Amino acid sequence: MQFTVASLALLGLASAAPTLKTSATDTSPTFNLMYQSNINNPGPIDALNTGSWYVTASNGKAVLSSFASRGLLYKYGTGPRIAQASVGLTITPGGTATVPDGKAIEFVVNNGTAPVDIQLNSSGIPTLWHDGGRFQACQGDGEEIYLSYVQPGQRFLAACAPVELQTVCSTLGVGEEMKGQLGEIEDVACIHISD
Ligand SMILES: *[C@@H]1O[C@H](CO)[C@@H](O)[C@H](O)[C@H]1NC(C)=O
Ligand SMILES: *[C@@H]1O[C@H](CO)[C@@H](O)[C@H](O)[C@H]1NC(C)=O
Repeated sequence: MQFTVASLALLGLASAAPTLKTSATDTSPTFNLMYQSNINNPGPIDALNTGSWYVTASNGKAVLSSFASRGLLYKYGTGPRIAQASVGLTITPGGTATVPDGKAIEFVVNNGTAPVDIQLNSSGIPTLWHDGGRFQACQGDGEEIYLSYVQPGQRFLAACAPVELQTVCSTLGVGEEMKGQLGEIEDVACIHISD
């Protein structure tokens, strides 16, 4: 369903719902990658079943956090690549033809992996994309839930949850002085979430 800007404004005024989410896409130079569950995830990662989760860098890994402000990202280069501040999203595919290695996607001080992009899925929602693969969230040490890559042909690990990460246009200034350290920023398609 598409909303016009005018109908969005009217909905916003008329609606008492805490979160209004639409599929209307905009573009933004900074964004969050957000996951919202619509399935029941297995025991170790059942925390994901409620709320909104955002990709952010933690100790060199891409993890899911419930704090949007910690995960301000940008896309840069013709590769293209995705980064947070000066750390690039780094995907190293592994495992066998059918089973992924379950390792964490990294955020490290380098240019990141290319191509990592934001592409519209078949519902027209802008989502994280790399080489036609998929993503899963797995339980790490302690409370940590990290992001992992699943190559085409590989299955999801039983202890992990399949996750699709949609881009949310950022309205936060957090990280402004750090962003874009790896190069010129490109706008990405993103959705607005408003209260
Ligand atoms: C990272 O990107 C910058 C800017 O394009 C380039 O100068 C540098 O050589 C790249 N570094 C690596 C390791 O590819
Ligand atoms: C597109 O992405 C959204 C957000 O992750 C998801 O809810 C929807 O099911 C996806 N559509 C398809 C066809 O995969």
